[in-house]
Amino acid sequence: MKRLFFAVISLIFAATACNKSSNSQSNPPAGDSATVTVVNGYGSGTYKVGDTVQIWSNALPANTVFDVWTGYNNLLQNSGEWHNTFIMPAQSVTVTATQKAITPYSLTYEKIKGVNILKNVYYYFPTGHKGIVYLLHGTGGSANNLVTTFAWIQMMNDLVAANYAIVVTEAEEISLNTDLNSDGKLRWLSTPLDSTSNVDYGNIKALRDTFYKRGYTNAAIPQYSLGMSDGGAFSSSLSYLYHFKTGVSYCAQGYQLIFNSSTTPFQFCMAKYDNNDEVGAQGDATALTYNQLLTSRGICSKYFSNDHSPVYPQRFARLSSISITTSTAFFNELKNNHWLDAKNYIKATSDSLAPIFVANPTLYPTYNSFNATQRIFVTDQIDQMYADHHFYDDLDKTSIHFLTSQCQ
Ligand SMILES: *[C@@H]1O[C@H](CO)[C@@H](O)[C@H](O)[C@H]1NC(C)=O
Ligand SMILES: *[C@@H]1O[C@H](CO)[C@@H](O)[C@H](O)[C@H]1NC(C)=O
Ligand SMILES: *[C@@H]1O[C@H](CO)[C@@H](O)[C@H](O)[C@H]1NC(C)=O
Repeated sequence: MKRLFFAVISLIFAATACNKSSNSQSNPPAGDSATVTVVNGYGSGTYKVGDTVQIWSNALPANTVFDVWTGYNNLLQNSGEWHNTFIMPAQSVTVTATQKAITPYSLTYEKIKGVNILKNVYYYFPTGHKGIVYLLHGTGGSANNLVTTFAWIQMMNDLVAANYAIVVTEAEEISLNTDLNSDGKLRWLSTPLDSTSNVDYGNIKALRDTFYKRGYTNAAIPQYSLGMSDGGAFSSSLSYLYHFKTGVSYCAQGYQLIFNSSTTPFQFCMAKYDNNDEVGAQGDATALTYNQLLTSRGICSKYFSNDHSPVYPQRFARLSSISITTSTAFFNELKNNHWLDAKNYIKATSDSLAPIFVANPTLYPTYNSFNATQRIFVTDQIDQMYADHHFYDDLDKTSIHFLTSQCQ
């Protein structure tokens, strides 16, 4: 999990965020700006023509997912995403966020026999599901951690809304709390690339066979993998080994050995300011070369790099237990303590900020009023907006489109 990876942040920040203000803080000449009105969301204001405008849907009530933006749809990139951007045209724009209800569902938790041991498994098979998606945690993660993480919950809701089944389990090293291959980390075993000698590949197969046997699903239904960090890398080898319909990686470049020969379509969702020592800017660049390698071999592949995005006052009210008032108070704590730049981009990741918040309760009373769940949520949101090495829910619809349609 990302709490392990800190550091080298101020450098990246200095090179990227500080100068935005010099461009856009000066008052544009009259006639060179226009108005954005966001209905059911945030980002309304006056913008200079040519600026990148950021818009966000209102927080989603329980049992709803974001649906689409209506209005100036043609201006929006990835128009199905709740957080979106467009280049300000020379005219005023009104956009409306629409949400849609989903049939309430809950994951079933069960211990199911893998190759050697009982595995923690969470799953949901919607009636008539069109695919099964294995969601894969990162280094140090777990099945329980994944299914209780806000951004993953959004992804699961979006998958269910798109009629996909979900299966979440965990690496054998996590289940056993043992570093089986002595690489210093608890995570998925990517090698050997073999379903009989590699217990992690074997476990996925064992679970699948159990679900087949129980009649929850069947072999005609395509399988997919989508993972974060080490789970993203594992997604590349897993989807290759079992000829899944497609695979997706968040914040991991995966393995060249795989992309040299795989025919499985693969999407990379990287983070622009990734600061993990095994990914980082180098990993982002390598992922792009693997994307190009697949494409040059005639295999469908997509590459996205999630950029940082500004903090807005209502952001933390995405969690239902945080009100807009409380969210705004926390936003003001960040602002007043100089953690936001002139355009409200966050200047540091939660690894450095959280200890400061805790150590200074009089400066950060709102943060210190949050309980454990809320603290994890707000620090996760900070990292998502920073675009560091963290799972994010800014590209859910884009990833689901890739599962459904690959490069079409
Ligand atoms: C930021 O602006 C300053 C002054 O305008 C300039 O000296 C510096 O090179 C700029 N930095 C970047 C990263 O563009
Ligand atoms: C992938 O293929 C390239 C070109 O054939 C080769 O140079 C490289 O060693 C291969 N990498 C792996 C890990 O198989
Ligand atoms: C935190 O507070 C919220 C709202 O009061 C509550 O729903 C949640 O269960 C609490 N979490 C913990 C870990 O106490």
